[in-house]
Amino acid sequence: MQLTERAQGAVHAALRPGDLAIDATAGNGHDTLFLARAVGREGRVWAFDLQDSAMAATRRRLDAEGIGTVRLVAGDHVRLLAELSREAKDRAGAIMFNLGYLPGGDKSVTTSAASTRAALPLALKLLRPGGVMTILAYPGHAAGAEESAVVDEFRDGLSTSLYRAELVAGPPGRTPSPRLTIIQRSLSQE
Ligand SMILES: C[S@@+](CC[C@H](N)C(=O)[O-])C[C@H]1O[C@@H](n2cnc3c(N)ncnc32)[C@H](O)[C@@H]1O
Repeated sequence: MQLTERAQGAVHAALRPGDLAIDATAGNGHDTLFLARAVGREGRVWAFDLQDSAMAATRRRLDAEGIGTVRLVAGDHVRLLAELSREAKDRAGAIMFNLGYLPGGDKSVTTSAASTRAALPLALKLLRPGGVMTILAYPGHAAGAEESAVVDEFRDGLSTSLYRAELVAGPPGRTPSPRLTIIQRSLSQE
């Protein structure tokens, strides 16, 4: 199973109809479409990306499926998550990060160790009890390895009584392989 599917599986198990869900790196919109379907008509999805071209690609994907309810916002997810945390703290059923650059797009526009270090704690504040956050990282090049180490440090620093955190390694053959982090906020905080 691909790590993208594994991430979606973990999110699907946690989401409830009517939930708020956030795609922090919309890219070509695969995860955004998945989230929109998972939360249903009563739910809300926010999708962020730095690039207008990614927003356009995501919009086309949603339009093709007749989904018009997703809030697409072009901008830095660090700023957007900080803004959202003022109105939606403890409200999100799922938050998805797929780090790196837009496949088929400008490889110079990419998440970084610095932006990810800032974004992850902001996103965590948005998670409701029982909610899930997924972070897919690609340590196959120098900047990706540095960013992946930031994710590892963040995950390993979480309180084990407040969060259940899991690391899933990608398939063998790609060295080093992509790494999926799945974080679930404890239900006991409800
Ligand atoms: C690997 S792609 C996401 C793929 C996407 N999940 C999909 O299903 O197609 C990473 C995306 O993150 C975006 N990005 C990079 N840094 C960002 C930031 N600071 N804030 C928001 N988006 C960012 C890039 O523009 C790129 O489209």
